[in-house]
Amino acid sequence: MVSAVPGADAPVANLRITMQTNVNPQALALWDIANRAMDAKGDLAGSKIPSDNWATLLKIGKDLEEGGRTLATSNGAVAAPPGAKLQDEGNFGASTAVDVQRFIDAKSAEFRGHGLDLQKTGAGLVKAVGTHDAKRLSALAGSLDEVRESSVES
Ligand code: HEM
Repeated sequence: MVSAVPGADAPVANLRITMQTNVNPQALALWDIANRAMDAKGDLAGSKIPSDNWATLLKIGKDLEEGGRTLATSNGAVAAPPGAKLQDEGNFGASTAVDVQRFIDAKSAEFRGHGLDLQKTGAGLVKAVGTHDAKRLSALAGSLDEVRESSVES
C-alpha cells in the first residue's frame, strides 16, 4: 500500500513546488479543456475536444499522477520555505503555512492518502485519454475538484 509509512530514505516533498509544477497548472488546463468541450446539455463531448488537446490531456494526466505519487510516497513534507506565506495567507479564514505544516506533521498518513487519490486520478486520466473516453474524462475532471477540496488546503 502506497500510503504505508515510507522508508526513512524517502524524499521530503516540497508542497509549493509540487503544486506549482505538477498540479495546479495541469488542473486548470484540464478544467479549461473540459469546459470548452461541453455540448448543449452541459455534458463533455469527446467530438468537441480538438485533436491536439488529447496530447495535452495525456501530459496533464501523467503530471498529476507523478505529482500525486510525490506526495503519496514522501517521508513528510514541507508546506513552504521558512518564512514564506501561502497564496491566500492573510485572507479571512485562509490557512497559514504554519497551520498547514502542523496538519501535515500530525496527520501524515491522511496526507499521503490525499496524494494517493491524486495519483489515482492522474492514472485514470491517462487511461481515459487512451480510449478517448469523454464520459470517464468528465467524471475524473469532477473528482479532481473533490481531491483538491478534501486535501489539506481546504
Ligand atoms: C486538483 C488538485 C489540486 C489543486 C488544483 C491544488 C492547487 C494548489 C494551489 C494553487 C496551491 C497554492 C500554491 C502557492 O501557494 O503558490 C496549493 C497549495 C497546497 N496544496 Fe494543493 N492542489 C491540489 C491538490 C492537493 C493535494 C491532493 C494535496 C495533499 C495531498 C495538496 C496540498 C497542498 C498544500 C499542503 C498546500 C499549501 C502548501 C504551499 O502552498 O506551500 N493539494 N495547492
